[in-house]
Amino acid sequence: MEKSCLGNSDDGLTFWLAEEKDYDDVMGISDNIYQGNDYLPRRYHSWMTEPGRVVMLARRGNKLVALESGLLVDDGCTVVVEGLRVCPSERGRGVAGVIQRFLDDYLQKLHPSIQVKRLTRGVEPGEQRLAKFTLLAKRAVLSLVGETVNFHSFTFYLKNKLHSSTGTGSDSGKSVPHLVPLDDKQLRKVLLDPDLPSRVQLPGGAIIQDWQPLQPIEANLEILGRRDLSWLVDDQEKPTFLSFYTPPYPIPYEGGSLRLNIDTFGTDAILARAALVGHFQKVLASGAFSGNGMLMLRVYMDCSLLDGIQSFCEGFEGVRKFRGYWEQELLERQF
Ligand SMILES: CC(C)(COP(=O)(O)OP(=O)(O)OC[C@H]1O[C@@H](n2cnc3c(N)ncnc32)[C@H](O)[C@@H]1OP(=O)(O)O)[C@@H](O)C(=O)NCCC(=O)NCCS
Repeated sequence: MEKSCLGNSDDGLTFWLAEEKDYDDVMGISDNIYQGNDYLPRRYHSWMTEPGRVVMLARRGNKLVALESGLLVDDGCTVVVEGLRVCPSERGRGVAGVIQRFLDDYLQKLHPSIQVKRLTRGVEPGEQRLAKFTLLAKRAVLSLVGETVNFHSFTFYLKNKLHSSTGTGSDSGKSVPHLVPLDDKQLRKVLLDPDLPSRVQLPGGAIIQDWQPLQPIEANLEILGRRDLSWLVDDQEKPTFLSFYTPPYPIPYEGGSLRLNIDTFGTDAILARAALVGHFQKVLASGAFSGNGMLMLRVYMDCSLLDGIQSFCEGFEGVRKFRGYWEQELLERQF
């Protein structure tokens, strides 16, 4: 066994920690994953240096066959696994289970503090649940797509709709809720408030940031701080609605597109609409809606909000639904 090889499986796989030089091999097994919405081409390089992260590869001979990553969160009590993929020619033969078991063993030795393993995944209605995991929560996902430049007019379209739907018909209507950003100090106070999970109905008690579940505790503030998020709340002290967007990032869809994720927590339909408009306005001001190519929008929300948000976003020609109803599941198992 080569020195940097970490181990092997009964059916001939060898396991390695991923390095920068493996990027092309990893992209080689990632073709068309998540219908072009894969985040890994963008994140792979930062994953190589992210504190608390392990990126595991499985090879058969020289050929890369699988990847899975784990990030230590929740003050060392939880590992969040992400990025799982198996090359198309090896799928359906249990390789995903094999690399997961190897990574679990590796992490257990490295961090004996880990008690649970968490993952999020996208599921179609009726899709089979993953055995061995407990479902902690689920959220609805709205996926929209359009030319990036169309999101400029879409922002104004939604803004007008928000104002007319709240009964004012004017841009300065008083009944349109006013959502506000949070500075670092306010954010810290809001996130560490023990009432927050019940007040904004955090799924499984976690802030799910672009598929990454993190409990709102001191130790995770630094991780959230790495993500450059823009927050909006209805109240800077005791919000009943909390939301943020992750800065748009490139994805492979249609030869190169942008992906914008908006995560929302809370169940008030009007606040959710106002949050969408508020985030779009901020993205617009950042210049991110002026590039070429397509933009894939994902909004994650309490399931009760989906119909209202969906109809709010309908009727604009240049932005269409990307796929039908699907959900984000938060799953957990004991380590
Ligand atoms: C989903 C994917 C990783 C499954 O790989 P696979 O090796 O073909 O899966 P198999 O059905 O042969 O393996 C079954 C094992 O993998 C596990 N598994 C399958 N899909 C899984 C998933 N999405 N998340 C976690 N575990 C999964 C099963 O629980 C089972 O584990 P066990 O052996 O401990 O019982 C593979 O189809 C793939 O790369 N798809 C594209 C990327 C993707 O959708 N990744 C999922 C991210 S959630």
